[in-house]
Amino acid sequence: MTTAGLVDQYGRVATDLRVSLTDRCNLRCTYCMPAEGLAWLPNSLVLTDDEVIRLVRVAVERLGVDEVRFTGGEPLIRPGLTKIVTAAAELSPRPRLSLTTNGIGLDKLARPLRDAGLDRVNVSLDTLDAERFDRLTHRRRLPDVLAGLAAAQAAGLAPVKINSVLMRDINEDEAPALLRFALAEGYQLRFIEQMPLDAQHAWDRIRMVTAKEILSTLEAEFTLLPDPAERGGAPAETWLVDGFTGSDGRPAKVGVIGSVTRPFCGDCDRTRLTADGQVRNCLFAREESDLRGALRGGADDEEIARRWRTAMWAKRAGHGIDDPTFLQPARPMSAIGG
Ligand code: GTP
Ligand code: 5AD
Ligand code: SF4
Repeated sequence: MTTAGLVDQYGRVATDLRVSLTDRCNLRCTYCMPAEGLAWLPNSLVLTDDEVIRLVRVAVERLGVDEVRFTGGEPLIRPGLTKIVTAAAELSPRPRLSLTTNGIGLDKLARPLRDAGLDRVNVSLDTLDAERFDRLTHRRRLPDVLAGLAAAQAAGLAPVKINSVLMRDINEDEAPALLRFALAEGYQLRFIEQMPLDAQHAWDRIRMVTAKEILSTLEAEFTLLPDPAERGGAPAETWLVDGFTGSDGRPAKVGVIGSVTRPFCGDCDRTRLTADGQVRNCLFAREESDLRGALRGGADDEEIARRWRTAMWAKRAGHGIDDPTFLQPARPMSAIGG
């Protein structure tokens, strides 16, 4: 068996696989989707549970993937999620397994997912104000998200991380309150710069709340110290919050994901699989490589691995958001999984 990894022309090696399990979602965050939703992928094009499991197995056994993140849309609405996690946890070498979710339904699923082998979760939460939550997501579900966070913590899916996208004049004033909440509950908070990935194509650089602004707002109330931990390929730059302790008993951290103003593409270690079985070599890729067709056409594991390597070799040096020729990918964030 060949075990050559997912290397690109710039020498980066992808060991972190992000698998989108569905493009559907039960929220309608304004920076992601229009209120009426989107045209969902037809079921016939979505990989079956067994097809997902096979591709994850090929990635782990033949391509050097050691970390698998399940995303959506909203991954908790995929009926086969627990089965997929169970199968991924049985692979050898066992990959680290995590989930990025909006938290709805996690109150019931945290324990079964932990038992199935899930290691960690990241939960999206942009506001602690119920009315603002309704306006931002078009659904009255803030209590469900808070219950989901608490259940994840209780189930030991640690560290539980929170993702907050800050938007100008909408929730940028909440950064300190979100951090106070996360510190009090023992969650690790990260603020995210909004990226041009919304289905509506309404992103506007001028309105984006930048990493620099986020840090200066936080520093008005908190003392942030450099984090000595290795960053590796992580999107989040992290700081220790002086005087606070995390749920693991170590100094509490806060992160900022500055994809636009502080890109980290040079250290990228990611490969992505969409719910309909396409490999994306970058979040912002405009080309995809079809593995579903290969799977359903009878390709063997080595042929699938070969196609995946070819797809990753073509990865661009960076996302190019600053290039005058930049074009958003055709697929919106909800169908890529972030
Ligand atoms: P951890 O490993 O748990 O820290 O997760 P993460 O921050 O890598 O992933 P998560 O799914 O929580 O995503 C947080 C934010 O980072 C989202 O806005 C993602 O879209 C963004 N993100 C994740 N991966 C990439 C990437 O490869 N490139 C860029 N530019 N942004 C990314
Ligand atoms: N820019 C930045 N982050 C985004 N997310 C969704 N859309 C965007 C965007 N346009 C975040 C979600 C979730 C994660 C998967 O990505 O809030 O936490
Ligand atoms: Fe990697 Fe693309 Fe994200 Fe840059 S934008 S870090 S290359 S996935």
